[in-house]
Amino acid sequence: MSERISVSAKPVAAMSGGEGPSGAAASELAHLYGNAGSWPAGETAPPPVRNLLGIAGLGRDNLLTLLDIAGGFKRDPHETPALLRGHTVVLYFNKPSTRTRISFETAVAQLGGTPLAVGPHELQLDRGETIEDTARVISSYARAFVIRTFSDEDVRRFAATATIPVVNALTDMHHPCQVIGDLFTMRELWGGFAGRRVAFIGDGDNVAHSLIEGCALLGVDVAVACPPGYEPDAGIVEAAKRAAAASGSTVLITHDPREAVAEADAVYTDVWLSMGVPELERAARVSAFRDYQVNVALMSPAKPDAVFLHCLPAHRGEEVAPDVFDGPRSRVFQQAANRLPTEQAILFALLTGRLRDVSKNVPFAKELS
Ligand code: CP
Ligand code: NVA
Repeated sequence: MSERISVSAKPVAAMSGGEGPSGAAASELAHLYGNAGSWPAGETAPPPVRNLLGIAGLGRDNLLTLLDIAGGFKRDPHETPALLRGHTVVLYFNKPSTRTRISFETAVAQLGGTPLAVGPHELQLDRGETIEDTARVISSYARAFVIRTFSDEDVRRFAATATIPVVNALTDMHHPCQVIGDLFTMRELWGGFAGRRVAFIGDGDNVAHSLIEGCALLGVDVAVACPPGYEPDAGIVEAAKRAAAASGSTVLITHDPREAVAEADAVYTDVWLSMGVPELERAARVSAFRDYQVNVALMSPAKPDAVFLHCLPAHRGEEVAPDVFDGPRSRVFQQAANRLPTEQAILFALLTGRLRDVSKNVPFAKELS
């Protein structure tokens, strides 16, 4: 377990004008970066990470730094009550949300700020104002922009113009905030990641993609079982395999759920019909996913102390049997609760320049921003 990192840093003055974050002491940054070795003496530190658009682009060290910072916030949610005092964070949700929206709103409040949650019909975007104009205007009012929407390209366009941090709160392809919370939960459960195996059973979309990326970076074996036609994106899998080779772990994609679950430490599933998937697909999906329900029989090839995980919301009787979801192996509400300290950590780290952009040094990192 990493030692505690104090999160009590002053807000970075340079950020308020839309400038890049800076200001943390070099020694402090060196310490944070130092979990895989500091940059060589005399060399300029890599630039700070401005946005969280996906897991892969973060790299292993930043991911671990976020987990460490989240640990501090879990112990003391009010450790930095002044970071956002007098400032707003805009939360734009173009899809429904319970956990992500409420945890981010609460995180902003605990950092001393005011969250402004807006839906698709409340901004002029819906009436044709461009993403770029919107990003430019919001950057002149708020300290950060959290966005849940459909297209990753829209989020990238927003981030390309915004001068404040942009956080992906779920797109069709990625759910990085969820998986940072999940990895935090796994570390709480296991104390570390070495030698662990996670099985994901179900649809190879946003949650699966981010989980594959996060596990590969942190050296967790990940096995995904999905019906034919619902496999995760091939490019994400290929990049994750290269990351896994570097971290000493493996990525397996299979159509056989029992193969995926064999000797797993955690069995994870997600809904069969993600937000935005047409209801017309329901019958075909229920039929395709029927043999992929996580039930007591499917849990049996996992390790005896394996836990059950789910990003939520859950549909008991579809992707998970009620006796697994509500049973003794389920850690789903611990997972959900951990969204709060990890959202705090994400905002804190981006606003104070705690993360270093190492993507140029990491050949498998997807350039998302
Ligand atoms: N897991 C998750 O992101 O939940 P919400 O859709 O409720 O935010
Ligand atoms: N895959 C799901 C995740 C919900 C948190 C969806 O996109 O609806």
